[in-house]
Amino acid sequence: MTEAGLNLPPERIPRHIAIIMDGNGRWAKKRGLPRIFGHRQGTENLRRIIRACVTFGVQYLTIYAFSTENWGRPQEELSGLMQLFHEAFANEIGELIREGVKIQHIGQREGMGADLLEKIDQAVERSKDNRRLILSVGLNYGGRNEIMHAVRKIVAAGVPAEAITEKTISANLFTAGTPDPDLVIRTSGEYRVSNFLIWQSAYAEWDFPETLWPDFGAEELRASIERYAKRDRRFGKLSENNP
Ligand code: IPE
Ligand code: IPE
Ligand code: MG
Repeated sequence: MTEAGLNLPPERIPRHIAIIMDGNGRWAKKRGLPRIFGHRQGTENLRRIIRACVTFGVQYLTIYAFSTENWGRPQEELSGLMQLFHEAFANEIGELIREGVKIQHIGQREGMGADLLEKIDQAVERSKDNRRLILSVGLNYGGRNEIMHAVRKIVAAGVPAEAITEKTISANLFTAGTPDPDLVIRTSGEYRVSNFLIWQSAYAEWDFPETLWPDFGAEELRASIERYAKRDRRFGKLSENNP
């Protein structure tokens, strides 16, 4: 089933949505299944949400798939997750690319398997001219780690201290070239940032639906965007409607 577009003025639709896809483990546990079943179902759901973003006219989608802290999980879950990422990049990406999705990776390459990196690099290369939706995949991503890498790059380039601006830092993050997120969604009723886009989300609007990620479908995304559309973003100034 394809969903209808949004009934909102274009300036009320978030240009960039970022999602902390949380709750896969609890989804599986509720059904008495191993956690990896939840991750599989979560990947299925991601496909739906990517399509919905295209339908809704969202231009950028950034997803948190695996954090730098997630390496602390049991080995069995880690190997299941890595296999799932392999499969997703091997089997799903071709169709997304045909649909006009541009794939980007955000996260530290070091520590990731060479095979997976190769698949990611191929997807990035094959999709580099696409513009319909820019999908940034956070894999081995941590916000602090990202800022650390940015500082290293700036220092290595010999930029004089007084020449470093906020723009310099933004331009050296993994997300360089992508506008800051307008809306960050975290599913599953957890209310924390967990090291996701900590620099970029300085002025994002946040939404915390209770639904576990595998059940967070297109209609829930629509509801989240509709809540966003009612917000008054002031950026520290006074309201445009009510100065
Ligand atoms: C999010 O779901 C996916 C990853 C962190 C890889 P979780 O695995 O954190 O699910 P819960 O929070 O345990 O339910
Ligand atoms: C954040 O979820 C990471 C991803 C969704 C990939 P976690 O489930 O790992 O976060 P915490 O540990 O509950 O903060
Ligand atoms: Mg979690």
